Amino acid sequence: MPLEIVTTIAELRERLRPARRAGESVGLVPTMGYLHRGHATLVDRAREGNDIVVTSIFVNPLQFGPNEDLARYPRDLDADCTLLAVHGADIVFAPSVEEMYDRPILTHIDVDGLSGRLEGERRPGHFRGVATVVGKLFNLIQPDRAYFGEKDYQQLQVIRRMVADLSFPLEIVGVPTVRDEDGVALSSRNVYLSPVERQAASVLSRSLAAAAATIGAGTVDPFKIEATIRSVLATEPLAEPDLIAVTAADSLEPVDPEVPPSAIALMIAVRIGRTRLIDQRVVAVP
Ligand code: PAF
Repeated sequence: MPLEIVTTIAELRERLRPARRAGESVGLVPTMGYLHRGHATLVDRAREGNDIVVTSIFVNPLQFGPNEDLARYPRDLDADCTLLAVHGADIVFAPSVEEMYDRPILTHIDVDGLSGRLEGERRPGHFRGVATVVGKLFNLIQPDRAYFGEKDYQQLQVIRRMVADLSFPLEIVGVPTVRDEDGVALSSRNVYLSPVERQAASVLSRSLAAAAATIGAGTVDPFKIEATIRSVLATEPLAEPDLIAVTAADSLEPVDPEVPPSAIALMIAVRIGRTRLIDQRVVAVP
């Protein structure tokens, strides 16, 4: 079936109605566009597990802070549609801001506790914006499954909790981070990097690998794990750490070395030049 581009909510509902009546399953891949191999992997997973695959492309203003990159966030709908067609998506839902928010939005979803910490402390309102738009997309599309990259690890936990708390009837599927050969996690924001900055960006995954090795060797002290990450980041003059978090993988609570969790989530945000990159790794505690 050729890829259909749908830009209005009415059209989207109309298009999905017969599929729903026929009992077909729907997989959703929510994105902000400028798609890369990481997104393609999410689409592939959705394709394997559902009759209909919908990808949304919407640069959601609610999740950007006043000094963030909303205006310059990269966009290329034609290239996105080519990738989606190759990977067998059925529908791309690419609404305008006016279509999604046709009046000032007064209703938001706050996942208390999870949203305001770590990355949420650095980016106030970010996860509220994410949860609100994702909740709205779930209502519009009513997918059976929705696919998210593990790279945005806190986002994934926020969405999982929102779905559990509000009883959204769908399964959330987390998909491992896709990386370039030098370990750099794929991200639409990598396009901002100069060649020298792009080379420097590999320090993020190297710092996480070193921390994973420390945990593998039996260290569960979060201060020692953080120090390992910092020491590797410090070897790269262009890297400015903004967030280094060492938490229990499921709750995102601080790690208590006396009662270590079964897995530790490492989450970092690092500025390379003007670009803020994030990366993560979940490491089983031996
Ligand atoms: O991860 C993203 O691309 C966005 O945060 C999402 C989930 C599409 C919501 O706008």
